[in-house]
Amino acid sequence: MTERTFIAIKPDGVQRGLISEIIGRFERKGFKLVGLKQLIPSKELAQKHYGVHKDRPFFGDLVEFISSGPVIAMVWEGEGVILNARKLIGATKPLEAEPGTIRGDLAIDIGRNIIHGSDGSETAAFEINLWFEDSEINEWKTSDYKWRVES
Ligand code: RTP
Ligand code: MG
Repeated sequence: MTERTFIAIKPDGVQRGLISEIIGRFERKGFKLVGLKQLIPSKELAQKHYGVHKDRPFFGDLVEFISSGPVIAMVWEGEGVILNARKLIGATKPLEAEPGTIRGDLAIDIGRNIIHGSDGSETAAFEINLWFEDSEINEWKTSDYKWRVES
């Protein structure tokens, strides 16, 4: 099923110069970028985004870190993109993430795991709506779309 997911390159990914490396992996996989912007998230935005973790001991540090510098916020579209993006990203703890995944190849620390991806369809809808205006998301087709697996 063609669907959309919210992906963010966290401040550590941006500062380590990994933007093109990460975006390239999603492009090469065959997913389509339909929304992209750089912003320094407010604390309020970070708190809403990670609201599900508000009672966890790491919540304060997490919000502080996510709002500490520029983040690349993206919406990616494609067949099964929500689950597939989670596979490309790898496990939350980088040392448990398989080699070949973004976190497995590029990160070490759980608090500096460089990328976020929505973990399900409801979360994806919530997060896309939280980070993007409708007018910031583009409907478009690649010139070779008839030969590719996409709607
Ligand atoms: P994300 O939401 O950022 O894509 O990460 P995730 O789904 O793989 O993991 P999640 O359980 O949603 O945790 C959100 C972020 O909180 C930090 N964390 N720290 N110190 C800890 O035990 C701990 N646990 C989680 C991580 O940065 C994680 O990505
Ligand atoms: Mg999560």
